[in-house]
Amino acid sequence: MTESSRANRGWWDRNADEYQTEHGTFLGDDRFVWCPEGLDEVEAELLGPPEELKGKDVLEIGAGAAQCSRWLTAQGARPVALDLSHRQLQHALRIGVSFPLVCADASVLPFADGSFDLACSAYGALPFVADPRLVLREVRRVLRPGGRFVFSVTHPLRWAFPDEPGPEGLSVSASYFDRTPYVEQDDEGLAVYVEHHRTLGDRVRDVVTSGFRLVDLVEPEWPDWNTSEWGGWSPLRGHLIPGTAIFVCERD
Ligand SMILES: C[S@@+](CC[C@H](N)C(=O)[O-])C[C@H]1O[C@@H](n2cnc3c(N)ncnc32)[C@H](O)[C@@H]1O
Repeated sequence: MTESSRANRGWWDRNADEYQTEHGTFLGDDRFVWCPEGLDEVEAELLGPPEELKGKDVLEIGAGAAQCSRWLTAQGARPVALDLSHRQLQHALRIGVSFPLVCADASVLPFADGSFDLACSAYGALPFVADPRLVLREVRRVLRPGGRFVFSVTHPLRWAFPDEPGPEGLSVSASYFDRTPYVEQDDEGLAVYVEHHRTLGDRVRDVVTSGFRLVDLVEPEWPDWNTSEWGGWSPLRGHLIPGTAIFVCERD
């Protein structure tokens, strides 16, 4: 396991309760919400028309409490929800599951080649791993030919701004091009939380060199109905700068 994965497993195990308490209502137990902007798969159809999800094997990566997998089940799909954090998956059990839960690192997927028709990830794993190409190659391996992988991540532009929801979050404070990860450490200097930055170009390159075709890049706009804040995401900032990037990819 890499230092980032070790740090993030501990962080998400310690913070899963707070995360679900804070965001569970917004996410909904059985909705598929892509991002703090509130884009819902019902309107976005990034995985394809809902009627075509029936009978599909779907891998959800960084599933948290598996809200998206619950929605996929309701469409007749057969999801498998994977997360690095045992505590997040306990929340999935608390809400209720009728599909498999797998505790594993997305960089080393414990599945045979060609096991899934689709894969998806709402802010799971990809913002947190040191080398996203390892995840992308693993996802490509477990997808069947033509399979689609849709994932949302923090929009790379946000890296240049303070992670604050108010006006202080509107002035550039760091270089967009600085790939030094954001790391929180304990008293002994061990990483306890890590986020990695990729520029938009890096992300596109990661996708393409990992054997995917980029079908779409969605930058959800902040809708007027959404008055919630989520960390540094807020209506104020959301109306001015993008907060999320969603990559729609297909296995070559
Ligand atoms: C921001 S949460 C998103 C959870 C869920 N998709 C949602 O929308 O609520 C990020 C999730 O990614 C998981 N994660 C982080 N690094 C991971 C890795 N290397 N492999 C698998 N999951 C990981 C965390 O444990 C956490 O549950």
